[in-house]
Amino acid sequence: MITTSETKLPRISTALPGPKSQLVIDYDKKYMSPSYMRDYPFVAERGYGAIVEDPDGNAFLDFAAGIAVCSTGHCHPKVVEAIQKQAAELIHIAGNDFYHRHMPQLAEQLVKTMPKPQDYRVFFGNSGTEAVEGAIKLARYATRRDKLIAFYGCFHGRTLGSLSLTASKNTQRKGFGTLLGGVEHIPYPYAYRCALGHTKETCGGEIIEFLEQQIFKRLFAPEEVAAIIVEPIQGEGGFIPAPLFFLQELQRICNRHGIVLIVDEVQAGMGRTGKWWAYDHAGITPDIVLTAKGIASGMPISAFIAKESIMQWKPGAHGTTYGGNPVCIASALATMELIEGGLMANARKIGDYVFGKINDWPQRFKIVGDVRGKGLMIGVEFVRDQKTKEKAADLRDRVIDNAFHRGLLTLGSGENSIRLSPPLIIDEEQADCAIRIMEESIREAEKNL
Ligand SMILES: Cc1ncc(COP(=O)(O)O)c(C=O)c1O
Repeated sequence: MITTSETKLPRISTALPGPKSQLVIDYDKKYMSPSYMRDYPFVAERGYGAIVEDPDGNAFLDFAAGIAVCSTGHCHPKVVEAIQKQAAELIHIAGNDFYHRHMPQLAEQLVKTMPKPQDYRVFFGNSGTEAVEGAIKLARYATRRDKLIAFYGCFHGRTLGSLSLTASKNTQRKGFGTLLGGVEHIPYPYAYRCALGHTKETCGGEIIEFLEQQIFKRLFAPEEVAAIIVEPIQGEGGFIPAPLFFLQELQRICNRHGIVLIVDEVQAGMGRTGKWWAYDHAGITPDIVLTAKGIASGMPISAFIAKESIMQWKPGAHGTTYGGNPVCIASALATMELIEGGLMANARKIGDYVFGKINDWPQRFKIVGDVRGKGLMIGVEFVRDQKTKEKAADLRDRVIDNAFHRGLLTLGSGENSIRLSPPLIIDEEQADCAIRIMEESIREAEKNL
């Protein structure tokens, strides 16, 4: 329920950033690391539902959701209640050293979402990158192999192990020296830019062939490869879905050679695509699934869910102080209940509704090259020319800025795309509002061409 001062739709009443927001920005500049990369000057003060307000009282419709994290919206009453209740009972005990019921409770809910629940075990961390680190270690430990294969455009995190897999933007790697050895990257099936002219369903066959005929024959013998790690829909890379057959082919290759298939669902998972996991659409059975972001509506927790046959390491082989924190777990349990209880279906329904209205943007706007995604994971790619597909990062940035000034928060993704990743709670009215603002923002960017 929203109070009288609250709103469902944007309400902008000052120039942006407003005076109180500007104070926070100046304060931040004085103390914070310059590595944070705020693309536009939004300052958050409070959030409810799909709305966040700044300190000046402006209300924004949030189609960024804290990088696809606030799956149940901001401060969902059931999530807040679960956090408050748990915080009054037990905040921390360290699951590394002592038992507490919360860890198996959430693990049980997570494995229930797997193709064969009884086959999986869970390890909790605090962030996406930690899940990736743990999965790398587990894959190496279980296979006694050390080579890893990842994809260009992928993002798996910024700690040194996960950064070795990340191949998104060179600024993320530049200056940090030698990373993990034994990592090879191969192209990701990017249908819009497929050199062979394939479609969204068929792109990527040649990459599978490249893996088998080039990588396995010239670089790494498959029996040396510990894991292939893939995002079923690239998140930071531009919201690019892999064709379903491509994921199935990766599974076939991994099964054939005893390679661990790690599916990174940190951004795509937790109901956002209309199913628990984006890989569910392909009907595959990954060896390790990584989750974070949307799992707990903003409380920091991640997990890797691995086949029991793989998760066979000895006590002490891997551990953490905070991972599986009871308060974060309470938030995750409430979040998963809400996702299962309707938000996943809503993501599917509203996602279909939005795609029905924006699929023709490339025909209606000359700077929109491609619209893609699934459910409420929606990517829009901007180009200077639809024929040459020249990337237009500047136009993309302009659209983001125009949308911000109209009260819609979005985020860039890849070199020249915008991602729309709202909370899974949005309704048709909010979707219509976001579509209208996006269309006005694109039209305005086109005017200045
Ligand atoms: C697919 C994917 N994996 C891993 C990560 C790293 O997560 P975190 O920022 O929580 O470390 C991200 C973050 O954007 C991601 O999108």
